[in-house]
Amino acid sequence: MVVILLGPPGVGKGTQAVRLIDSVGGEHISTGDLLREACRDGTDLGLEAQGFMDKGELVPDLLILDLIRDHLSTTDSETSIVFDGFPRTIAQAEGLDGVLLDVARGVSEVVVFEAPEDELIKRLSGRRSCTDCGAVFNLHFDPPTSEGECGRCSGPLVQRSDDQPDTVKNRLRVYESQTAPLIKHYSSHPASLKHVSAVQPVNDVQLAFRAALGIGLTV
Ligand code: AP5
Repeated sequence: MVVILLGPPGVGKGTQAVRLIDSVGGEHISTGDLLREACRDGTDLGLEAQGFMDKGELVPDLLILDLIRDHLSTTDSETSIVFDGFPRTIAQAEGLDGVLLDVARGVSEVVVFEAPEDELIKRLSGRRSCTDCGAVFNLHFDPPTSEGECGRCSGPLVQRSDDQPDTVKNRLRVYESQTAPLIKHYSSHPASLKHVSAVQPVNDVQLAFRAALGIGLTV
């Protein structure tokens, strides 16, 4: 199974991908997480990507496709994959089809998570992430028990630099202009395309997500 999660910033793609993979196995590939790791490590890719990410712009397609190609070269061809935040342009979608074809695979499902813009802005303004274990909390919807401290590992909780209001506005604009056209693109692709409302509690979104994939209904 090769699944693509589509949807605007803050809709809950990462939250749902982690829950699914923790429960059924497979690999969660988030280009946002891979880029943030490259920035933290100060690699050439990180240095090049940082400026785009700080402004809420997309990192160039060629850099992203190289990153994906490298990553997939170490992934077993039987492993289920959930792509989160990739592809984000038509060129990336076409590039992914080519990379998968080389290993006799293809995208099987595309799931589009949907929520209105005021909800996305609230979720992004309240998001806090642990710098040590990567756990994600939300000050409005899933507050950490102790402020500024991860409830899982006691690491420090921080706000992502691109969750500042001006950058969020640009990310939402970039999503509409460059990524939302992928919904039409995948409507005429062999993969199955499903829409899931993300305006419901996290567990209910997970149930609807699994139903869309046709897999087990326990969370
Ligand atoms: P990336 O990290 O991919 O960011 P994004 O797509 O903007 O998505 P987010 O991570 O912000 O949101 P999410 O949908 O995963 O929501 P989450 O589960 O965290 O990309 C960052 C940047 O990297 C881009 O701007 C770009 O510069 C670059 N980049 C990355 N990939 C690229 C690519 N392929 N090409 C080019 N550039 C690329 O949830 C959000 C919050 O809401 C959390 O606090 C969570 O706890 C809460 N929440 C989740 N679900 C619910 C719910 N049902 N109810 C209430 N709260 C909820």
